[in-house]
Amino acid sequence: MNATRSDRVLNDRTAAHSTRIPVRTAVIVGSTRKGRAGDAVAHWFAGHARRRTTLAVDLVDLAEFTLPFHGPSGSTETEAELAARIGEADAVVVVTPEYNHGYPAALKQAIDSGCDEWFAKPVGFVAYGFSGRGLRAVEQLRLVFGSLHMVAVPDVVSFDLFDSGTVDDGVPRDTDANLVATERMLTQLEWWARALREARAERPYPA
Ligand SMILES: Cc1cc2nc3c(=O)[nH]c(=O)nc-3n(C[C@H](O)[C@H](O)[C@H](O)COP(=O)(O)O)c2cc1C
Repeated sequence: MNATRSDRVLNDRTAAHSTRIPVRTAVIVGSTRKGRAGDAVAHWFAGHARRRTTLAVDLVDLAEFTLPFHGPSGSTETEAELAARIGEADAVVVVTPEYNHGYPAALKQAIDSGCDEWFAKPVGFVAYGFSGRGLRAVEQLRLVFGSLHMVAVPDVVSFDLFDSGTVDDGVPRDTDANLVATERMLTQLEWWARALREARAERPYPA
């Protein structure tokens, strides 16, 4: 290994261990439906996440990506762009609605369009729906992300869009319960993101 490369590796390791380097967090808007509620929910969440100076938030809106409907090809520019955005992240938050007790097809398409850029990173969930609060979608996503070698954090931020006490016309309210759930999930996510960033810098993940 020449001096330049070893210096770079050392710098990467030092950066990975630094608490001053923010945790790059991709917040994925999982609904692409016209007139979706997901936009307002994701912006509310991202606004609160951005208040943490320890996070650098990248809002990844799947509505801005046209992925090949007939399955992942691994070769389109859009797939490459999505993979790059996920690859740059230390942590992922998925904002998902519940559709028929599951999660949206567009979200599955996006997840399947990549592969190892997801590996050895934590994922958190912001879920919403009607009475299901999106929680059944989250349980399914825990299985999916397990297959991508990710750590799904336990606490979930979730909303019943018809509960006017916690959601005002599609926009989550800044209630104590909503804010506490957000802080708990982000604290867990950040802990895992820093731990796994350091671990990845020390040795390549053995996928
Ligand atoms: C096709 C479809 C199926 C749905 N199924 C459920 C469901 O099983 N449980 C639930 O709580 N809400 C369900 N809903 C309500 C959605 O979660 C709610 O409409 C939400 O706004 C959808 O997210 P979006 O507006 O961001 O697309 C369903 C909505 C749609 C469009």
